[in-house]
Formats: sequence, structure tokens, C-alpha cells
Amino acid sequence: MADTTLTRRKDFLSVLDFDAADLERCLELAAQLKSDRSLGRHAPTADILDGHHIAMLFDKPSLRTRTTFEIAIRELGGHLVALQADVALGRREPVGDVARNLERWVDAVIIRTFSQDVLQEFAAAARRLHVVNALTDQEHPCQAIADFLTLQERLGQLRGRTIAYVGDGNNVATSLAHAAAMLGVHVHVASPEPYQLPHAVVQQATSVARHGARLRLFSDAADAVAGADAIYTDTWTSMGQEQEAELRRGIFGPYQVNEELMSLAKPGALFMHCLPAHRGEEVTADVFESDASVVFDQAENRLHGQKALLMMLLAPAAGL
Ligand code: CP
Repeated sequence: MADTTLTRRKDFLSVLDFDAADLERCLELAAQLKSDRSLGRHAPTADILDGHHIAMLFDKPSLRTRTTFEIAIRELGGHLVALQADVALGRREPVGDVARNLERWVDAVIIRTFSQDVLQEFAAAARRLHVVNALTDQEHPCQAIADFLTLQERLGQLRGRTIAYVGDGNNVATSLAHAAAMLGVHVHVASPEPYQLPHAVVQQATSVARHGARLRLFSDAADAVAGADAIYTDTWTSMGQEQEAELRRGIFGPYQVNEELMSLAKPGALFMHCLPAHRGEEVTADVFESDASVVFDQAENRLHGQKALLMMLLAPAAGL
């Protein structure tokens, strides 16, 4: 039985809003919820969020995050308020006003938007409202929960493992680095110079690192993947960067994850991607479709991880 009686957290804007104990318990709870669901046991969680209204506001497209949060809310017995995109933060009325309206009606808001600063401004304006980051340009913390649930399933003990992230030092890489550091996992990030993980993220990861976890930056992908238990990549052109796509294809070419790069990692190394993927760009079709690929496990685990997250934020005393 997972212990969900934790310090109640208001928001999950960043993996850094959790401490290591929160993160480990979130993974433990997610694994339990997944196991129960596979046995058809939805009932124990069906009324946990009864009476809770949860709004979702997405300023950017989404398949996985939107679908899995909607199912998570429904399976926990909560009530979804799907806000239309025309509410877009800061364009019709000040961000803080949107937050102060919503806190009069709903218990939590799940937001996908551009700026982490805007998300923080929103959360700070509404002291009673729980706010969840469903992706900003800077961080993607819900993805990191699913990623480490997947790694835990495949590798068992996480501590001391090494993940190589190859490509753009973006929001996904940032949240991966934060979570890895807390869980005692080493991360090697290989990126071309202007697209390295920001220095501030390296400092943050270093400050929360446990069990000797190290974050190392590389410019050469082959150096980064040596000895890695998993190779992770993401699109070279994130949402909002479409006008740079051609330039980025040229710059990131040497960072493609292909069979040759996979062969330089540990034998049996996993391939990871948050999706959507672009075959022939950041990953070859061969690697994407190979037995090493766990990308659809990651996608499935978005559901279980986010159910656990919602329980921890909104019903921390609930046990299963
Ligand atoms: N990985 C991820 O966040 O997918 P979506 O953009 O489809 O939500």
C-alpha cells in the first residue's frame, strides 16, 4: 500500500516543487495505480476526487497530456472543466485575474502555456488553487514522472543508472535532469553549443542531487552515450520554433539517434522519446520501432503518473 500522507503541495510547476521523498512516493503510487488498473480495479480510486472541479487550459496543442489528464480526472471521480483556448493567458485579461476568477470555482488548474514565468505568476495570484504545469517552454515535469516510472519498470533500481539525453537542451531535458538528480540517476546531455542545457538548470540539478548523481554536458553524442542505460531524445524543433526548422535540421544532424549511436551505449540500452517523434530527424525509424524502444510505455505512463500526482496534490490523505 502506497503512503500518500505527504506534506500537501500547492503546485507542481516544476519537478523542483517536489522533494525527493515526494517524487519517490509519486512513482510508487503511480506503479500501484497502474497495477490496479491492469487488474480492472478502477473502483478504489473512483471517488477520491469526488466534488473536486479541475480545469484544463491549453495554449498549445497536445495529444498525450490532454488525453491522459482527462482520463485521470474521470477515473479519480473528479469533474473536468475544459477551458477554451480563447481564455489564453494574459491576452483577454491579466493572468492574475484569470487565476483569481478560477480559484472561486475550481480546485485545480492544469495549464500548458509558453512561459514558465506566466505560469508562476498565475500560481502566485491564487493562493487556494492548485496549479499543474502541463508543459511550458522551459519545463515539462509531468513527462519526467512518466519517464522515471518507465525506467523503474524496465531497469528496477534507478539509483546509479545513467541516461544520455541527445539533442536540444529543452524543457523535457530540464525536467529529466531535475528528476534524475533527485533519484540518484546520472545524466549525460549532448547538444550543439547554443542549445546546451541552461547553466541555471545544471546548478538546480546539482543542488538537489542525491546519492552522487552527476549531470554532465557533452558536445559529442558518442561520448555522452558511452555506458548509458538509456538514450533519450526529443524533437529538434519544439512548438513555436517552426520558422527555425530548416536551420535546426542542419545543426542537429550529428545528434540523430540511430543504430550506430545505440550500439555505443550499454548492451540492451533503452530508447526513449516523449513524442511526437520525427522519424529520419532526431531518431531513425529502425530505432523508433526496435525492441529497445519504450516510447509507448512512456506515453501510457503519463496516465498513471498524473493520477498519482493529482492524488498527492488534491487528496494526500487518501490511501489505496
Ligand atoms: N509528450 C507530450 O507532452 O505529448 P503532447 O504534446 O501530445 O501532450
